Amino acid sequence: MDHFKGVFQIQRGDNSEQIIELPALAISDDESNCGPVKIRLNVFDREVEAVENLFGRMRIDFSKIGIRKARIILTEMSGISILRNNFRIRPYGDPSYDWLNLQAKRVQDPSKRLGSDQLSGYVEIEDELTSGMIERSSREGLESNGSYRRLKSLISSLLPHIEERRHEFREKAGISRKPATNVDKARDASKLKQVTKALEKIPEEYRAKLVTAIEKDATTINVMLDEVDAYQKVLQSRAALGLVVAEVIHEGRRRLDPMLTSIKTLKADYKYAFEESKIGQLYRDNFPAEIDTLLTGGTALGRLFKRLDPISGRRRGRPANFKLSDVLSDTLSIMRHTLESHSIAIQYNFPSTIKCYGYREDLHAVFLNIIENATHWLSTTDDQERLIYIGVTTNKAKVYIAIENNGPEIDEAYQSRLFDAGFSLKSDGTGLGLAIAREACRASKGDLRLDESAINTSFIIEFPLGK
Ligand SMILES: Nc1ncnc2c1ncn2[C@@H]1O[C@H](COP(=O)(O)OP(=O)(O)OP(=O)(O)O)[C@@H](O)[C@H]1O
Ligand SMILES: [Mg+2]
Repeated sequence: MDHFKGVFQIQRGDNSEQIIELPALAISDDESNCGPVKIRLNVFDREVEAVENLFGRMRIDFSKIGIRKARIILTEMSGISILRNNFRIRPYGDPSYDWLNLQAKRVQDPSKRLGSDQLSGYVEIEDELTSGMIERSSREGLESNGSYRRLKSLISSLLPHIEERRHEFREKAGISRKPATNVDKARDASKLKQVTKALEKIPEEYRAKLVTAIEKDATTINVMLDEVDAYQKVLQSRAALGLVVAEVIHEGRRRLDPMLTSIKTLKADYKYAFEESKIGQLYRDNFPAEIDTLLTGGTALGRLFKRLDPISGRRRGRPANFKLSDVLSDTLSIMRHTLESHSIAIQYNFPSTIKCYGYREDLHAVFLNIIENATHWLSTTDDQERLIYIGVTTNKAKVYIAIENNGPEIDEAYQSRLFDAGFSLKSDGTGLGLAIAREACRASKGDLRLDESAINTSFIIEFPLGK
């Protein structure tokens, strides 16, 4: 394959055919020719409106299914097969078989990258001689040789073109819920695409100088944008902290008021405490209850202050490298009893060598908050297995930790407010957990967000990768 040519259509748009043409990637040392390949991919969006639309086109009554079931159906339909002589080579095309490793990439850039649960279709390859790809026995797929690696890298180089077009359409159509912030747009503009394109028409002898000048300017713009970006984050954090303070005052007062009442009562009638009279007897009878009120309130205030630790600004020592698995063990040692008493299973599978960089206590607090939430909401469900699943991926700079649970789904209408201090659907919740957890992540140059297109409730923690 020396180049790729294909068409791309957007069903939610006007369906017109857009041509995609690409030169093939240079073949790398560990790759060999994979022969001609034919590919057909269907991409689907997973937000409510799109799913409803898609099911409508399939003539399925969406209102009877509901979004969660519909998404499960979509996931079951997903998967990219490899076909040879019209036969599917297994396990390619099985829904959970993510042979292009798409989920890991999507987690890192969810608004743009396509996940394996958003793609279905097939790749047709030629016979062994032409393609160089050799089938292993008993559903083990293709030998991982140079040709197979070539096939994967060719598809991986095609996908971003689809992703970009889809992203652009979604932006224009106002579908991507979070429009790029001004900084993102400006960053895109700073690549000076038009200028660079126009340059191609200028005689070569002048070009090099111009390119250098433009690159210099673009770099300056990018440095400035980094600063704007950082400043914007600071402002966002201030706003978030302001709300946290308001909430803490509110919660603190709620706890303090009954304590003050108790103290006043205890103080006012103290003189009767040891008297052999009705009022003395009453005082002694009420004494344990008043003390209980004080203890309960004091404990709650203590807990409230402890929760604020990650955002107190009081940094304990320097940021350091620490093992992710240690943070998980810390969390589980605290939560194990609660998890067991609610019959919640917890699954995870990641190399114990993965390290994070920052404050271990902060990540620990984030884990605690998210797992506490998951535990609470799982315990409200019945007739099903209760499961928390932790999945980890990394790239050069970051660790991405997805904490998922199969409890009740979070209504779309609330999704944008989850991280606001004070937002809570829990009867005795303060609504501080997620707000603090996100600030704790950001203080370590990480972040926290909800994975809006996952089937289960899933929060993704981003944290600097350690060494
Ligand atoms: N795993 C989850 N499943 C369903 N809803 C959740 C989950 N995690 C958070 N939420 C929703 O987000 C809201 C805010 O969560 P947050 O942790 O900030 O506060 P809270 O849990 O309500 O109160 P607190 O953390 O003080 O106990 C919750 O009330 C709930 O509506
Ligand atoms: Mg909480």
